Amino acid sequence: MLISPSILNSDIGRLAEELDKISGADWAHVDVMDNHFVPNLSWGLPVVEAAKRYSPVPIDAHLMITDPDRWAPAYVEAGAASVTFHAEAAAAPIRLAREIRGMGARAGLAVNPATPVTPYLELLDEFDMILCMTVEPGFGGQPFIEQVMPKVTQVREAADKKGLQTWVQVDGGVSASTIEMAARAGANNFVAGSAVYKADDAGEAVAELRRLAEGCRH
Ligand code: DX5
Ligand code: ZN
Repeated sequence: MLISPSILNSDIGRLAEELDKISGADWAHVDVMDNHFVPNLSWGLPVVEAAKRYSPVPIDAHLMITDPDRWAPAYVEAGAASVTFHAEAAAAPIRLAREIRGMGARAGLAVNPATPVTPYLELLDEFDMILCMTVEPGFGGQPFIEQVMPKVTQVREAADKKGLQTWVQVDGGVSASTIEMAARAGANNFVAGSAVYKADDAGEAVAELRRLAEGCRH
């Protein structure tokens, strides 16, 4: 069970301190938005480089951008240990995943709530992680879309059947009240933005999310 706090709604002016708060987590999730693939603009390579420099945990870059085929490799060079791009945006997802892996990072494939994962189940071994979005990407603080849970289960079952250690990540609206539902459905990697950074004690929030997820281990 892996907890990956998203720094999207942290105080980015104090990036190093904000990252320090999540030293008890497994990954730091960095949301890259380009105002084309999603209707919001966050940041790009320089912030990922800075996060890499200051983070106590490895960087999980989530690219919500068009043309990831062109840009994703640069995020590996910037120091991300995991790079996730969207199925809806990639022209050649297999080629791109192989390129990311070839550079030494984990390759993740993200699917929006309305995107079926079925076409990728035969290709699961090409990816280290499948990210099932539990909100429409673009903003933090949105409610968890629980109808995505069958898709989470579909990926988990396909991975088990093939004997793969594929990580299944959920992102969006993950909190103390939704994380167990996702864990029971088969997720093992949980992105949480507001649930961590809007809490009084971010470290405590991470520990609580971990405790709840571990309680559902199957
Ligand atoms: C949404 C981003 C998420 C976001 C999650 O497009 O991909 O990572 O930061 O924020 P919460 O946990 O507040 O939904
Ligand atoms: Zn994200």
